[in-house]
Amino acid sequence: MSELWHWQEAERACLGAASTAFSATGVSIDTRSLKAGDLFVALTGEARDGHDFVGAAFAAGAAAALVSRKIDGTGPILEVGHTLRALEDLGDAARARMVGQVIAVTGSAGKTTTKEMLRLACSALGRVHASAASYNNHWGVPLTLAQMPRDSEYAVIEIGMNHFNEIRSLVRLVRPHVALITTIAPAHIEFFGTLEGIADAKAEIFEAVVPGGCAILPHDNPLYPRLCERARRAGLARPLSFGRHKGADARLVESMEAGDGQHIVADIAGQPVRLQLGAKGEHIAINAVAALLCIAQLGGDVLNAAASLSSFTALKGRGARRALPLKGGKIELIDESYNANPASMRAALTMLGAATVKGRRIAVLGDMLEMGESAAHYHRALADDIEAQGIDLVFACGAAMQALWQVLPQARRGGYGHSSQELVPQLVAALAPGDMVLIKGSLGSRMAVILDALTAASG
Ligand SMILES: Nc1ncnc2c1ncn2[C@@H]1O[C@H](COP(=O)(O)OP(=O)(O)OP(=O)(O)O)[C@@H](O)[C@H]1O
Ligand SMILES: [Mg+2]
Repeated sequence: MSELWHWQEAERACLGAASTAFSATGVSIDTRSLKAGDLFVALTGEARDGHDFVGAAFAAGAAAALVSRKIDGTGPILEVGHTLRALEDLGDAARARMVGQVIAVTGSAGKTTTKEMLRLACSALGRVHASAASYNNHWGVPLTLAQMPRDSEYAVIEIGMNHFNEIRSLVRLVRPHVALITTIAPAHIEFFGTLEGIADAKAEIFEAVVPGGCAILPHDNPLYPRLCERARRAGLARPLSFGRHKGADARLVESMEAGDGQHIVADIAGQPVRLQLGAKGEHIAINAVAALLCIAQLGGDVLNAAASLSSFTALKGRGARRALPLKGGKIELIDESYNANPASMRAALTMLGAATVKGRRIAVLGDMLEMGESAAHYHRALADDIEAQGIDLVFACGAAMQALWQVLPQARRGGYGHSSQELVPQLVAALAPGDMVLIKGSLGSRMAVILDALTAASG
């Protein structure tokens, strides 16, 4: 393993004091996933204090521990004034010493999906460092940067937020060459009030784009003109765009289900591209087009990058499918249990509508959370998508889903439960071989309970 942090470089970055020399090959904030050779950063959270785990970190092979108070321990200590601040300093220093190109990804849905596509696309072109999972918050972004090898040629950094000014402070560490916004939708809207507020908060990502860098924006989104205006005000040149729209710089021309994935014909900044993704859905296709536009903007080989996207498969809880034996036949499950907001609900229902199905199209829907005063409106509005996509039967659970349940026509009503658990017996009784079943809701609606129950029922 090559060295990531030499003790003197780490000391300089965060104005710390090392008790003795060390060399770290990684950075970790969690002893459960810490690898031998990592620098353990003792963050202080609401529930736990990392300082209590320094002993465990050394037991797991940590090279050193970064702490803000005296610790009785046996390994090298890097003492700083504030550990989160020091992690940010390490991230800042890692970014400063990296000479490759950096892509920052934000948006109301599709950040991780697009980030994983970019990881694949960039890996066809050079050495890539990318965020793990959805590490996109006040510790995830600096941690990702602090873990970035100095010889990375590309970095793909996910940035998330649910309040104003969060992206602003994170993007200053990232200093991207390309700032990509996947979509704007009413996610966490209770903290912003309006869609315009959400767009403005996402647009904070433009504020630290490096000189000569660029914004890449969703042309089909109603907030696109506002994002363009914000990019201009941040001093960026003409933003580039992606989508179905004829005026988009990267255009999705055709997209259809084919085999286990999606076949795509696109025009990426004037270059015709055909590719096959190992995941289904028009929204997934649009994310791929956005990723390829980033590659084109960075001067990468788009055809090479497109070819590497063929190994992209749906992520867990975000469209991953599996067949399940049931009642002498099979049903097909689409696992969308990771999260939900109006944009990703619509995308998933559209995907179900477009699917080739032997039996019925069944949607099992849990609450979309953090929707504030407009919760009833957004849940009720799903009835139009359900109608338009020809969904045969809906099972709904949770307090907010009451609003949808009440407006659903009798013929489409499968069952209602106060919780996901309560819905299980009704659903199991109703399912028949050949059905395709979409399971989706915010993580807090615990829709994975239903997946587990169906798996158990299939025996
Ligand atoms: N472009 C898109 N438009 C709408 N929904 C999308 C889009 N891309 C992905 N999705 C759906 O949104 C959900 C979340 O996807 P993903 O994890 O990629 O988003 P995220 O923005 O990283 O979420 P989080 O904020 O939780 O990190 C999934 O159901 C996924 O299929
Ligand atoms: Mg994510």
